[in-house]
Amino acid sequence: MHISLDGKIVAIAGATGGLGPTVAAVFASAGATLSLVDRDAAKLDALIASLGAPPGKHHRATADLADAEQTRAWAEQIRQRYGRVDAVLHLVGGYRGGQTIAQFPDADWALLKQLLIETTWNVVRAFVEPLKASGGRFILVSSPQAQKPLHVNAAYAACKAASETLILALADECRGTGATANIIVVNAILTPQMRADKPDADYAQFTAAEDIASAMLYLCSDAAANMNGQRLSLFGAR
Ligand SMILES: NC(=O)c1ccc[n+]([C@@H]2O[C@H](COP(=O)([O-])OP(=O)(O)OC[C@H]3O[C@@H](n4cnc5c(N)ncnc54)[C@H](OP(=O)(O)O)[C@@H]3O)[C@@H](O)[C@H]2O)c1
Repeated sequence: MHISLDGKIVAIAGATGGLGPTVAAVFASAGATLSLVDRDAAKLDALIASLGAPPGKHHRATADLADAEQTRAWAEQIRQRYGRVDAVLHLVGGYRGGQTIAQFPDADWALLKQLLIETTWNVVRAFVEPLKASGGRFILVSSPQAQKPLHVNAAYAACKAASETLILALADECRGTGATANIIVVNAILTPQMRADKPDADYAQFTAAEDIASAMLYLCSDAAANMNGQRLSLFGAR
């Protein structure tokens, strides 16, 4: 299925992480104009250069998305520049785990709450009204741990569950507006860099970044206009 996003404005939070560059490349190839945000300006510049678009086509902003004010400022830049936003892809992540609940460090609990819950809350709040106005899309990437936690991932699972709940609440608020909010669920992401670094590793439980980007593109297409508040699992066949 060919999906064109010509004329669409797509905001990508956490754009320079593991998944972001693949998603940015797929959405740029589909014709979207991107607003990319992350914390490192040099990485954002390198990512925009890699997209090979005419200068000025894509926008980038540095922001700490755990900070509500900085997150709102990014949304405001998009409003001033484009007057609309058609999709928000929330890719901010990070992982801590591997200990029992009693052993898990307090600092890591605080970090995961910030990375996974606060950034989601801030991005949802900054973009809910523009997305309702445009009939746009919000997509979160989550983990099966949110539904079926292991004790060694208690903190990560709890934070992902909280962020999923925010998206389901957003989906409820979007109902009737034309906007949608959905969750893509993967065990682990296989990036092009990982494949290049260790081509012979066993990635059977991983989902390729390209497949996640394709699912996101589908969720942003007209064909998915009636899909709201869903968890799409992109694993389980192997
Ligand atoms: N990787 C996996 O196997 C996996 C599995 C299941 C679900 N997920 C989810 O899939 C999504 C994408 O995963 P990923 O591996 O690409 O994530 P990631 O690389 O860990 O993070 C994505 C980007 O978010 C940025 N970021 C972190 N905190 C930020 C903040 N406060 N403000 C602005 N940017 C911030 C990171 O920048 P810094 O480099 O500065 O930290 C990084 O560039 C995440 O939501 C993740 O939870 C991933």
